[in-house]
Amino acid sequence: MGFTTVERTSPDGLFRAVYRELLVPSFPPEELDAEDVLAAALEDGSANLFAVVDEAGAPVAAAFGEWSAESRVQLLTYLAVGPAARGGGIGGRLLREAVGAWAARRDPCLVVAEIEDPDAPADEAHGDPRRRLAFYEAAGAEVLDVPYFQPGIGGPERRVHGMLLLVLHAAPELRLGERVDGEALRLFMEDYLEEVEGGVGADAETAALFAALDRPGGVPMGPWHPGK
Ligand SMILES: CC(C)(COP(=O)(O)OP(=O)(O)OC[C@H]1O[C@@H](n2cnc3c(N)ncnc32)[C@H](O)[C@@H]1OP(=O)(O)O)[C@@H](O)C(=O)NCCC(=O)NCCS
Repeated sequence: MGFTTVERTSPDGLFRAVYRELLVPSFPPEELDAEDVLAAALEDGSANLFAVVDEAGAPVAAAFGEWSAESRVQLLTYLAVGPAARGGGIGGRLLREAVGAWAARRDPCLVVAEIEDPDAPADEAHGDPRRRLAFYEAAGAEVLDVPYFQPGIGGPERRVHGMLLLVLHAAPELRLGERVDGEALRLFMEDYLEEVEGGVGADAETAALFAALDRPGGVPMGPWHPGK
């Protein structure tokens, strides 16, 4: 069967199908923003969607990303392949296409993704966190050495703890050897927390994350190892 990658910058029927048929089954509810929130991000131009469709135009895989202009950080917010098509190379191809397109359009920029703790238990619908990390590392991702959490959709009490923040692309201007520019990441996190939680909290978890981002010389990154 022939697959094609298409792009959407406004919330049409394909976006709705991607949300309902690919994102809802692939992500736990605490990690997935509401359909209308993603639609609004497409409308205001901060987000775009790449979807792989089959010959009938039905979505089989999707990459949804959001751009933070102030920090020059592009977040791969959601990447999902329908369960029946997983393991066939579609996800890897879409990841390379999406990261390549964002880097070409936005550079100098960082492209990042957040993934679950690789030590978390596997679950049939949402996938195996260890294999997911291997998938990203095979695409060249490096793990930032920060105590990352996904901001809580609707408030800090809904945070997803123990996540990893990955770098999928770093422009030479933002890369300092095996480190990346902490200022860009700090601005990105401030923006993200304000948008999702309504502000930057004064709690210990946020302070620890920001202290890691503010290290002199940048934020170290590299392969993941248990206990990182
Ligand atoms: C992770 C995912 C995007 C990979 O896409 P894919 O098309 O299946 O991957 P490819 O065929 O290009 O590459 C195969 C690799 O993907 C990973 N992978 C495949 N199925 C997976 C699953 N169910 N769970 C986790 N990782 C998986 C493995 O690393 C696999 O390599 P392996 O077979 O040697 O273990 C896809 O499995 C998926 O949608 N999972 C659920 C949602 C998700 O985890 N999204 C990413 C977090 S933002």
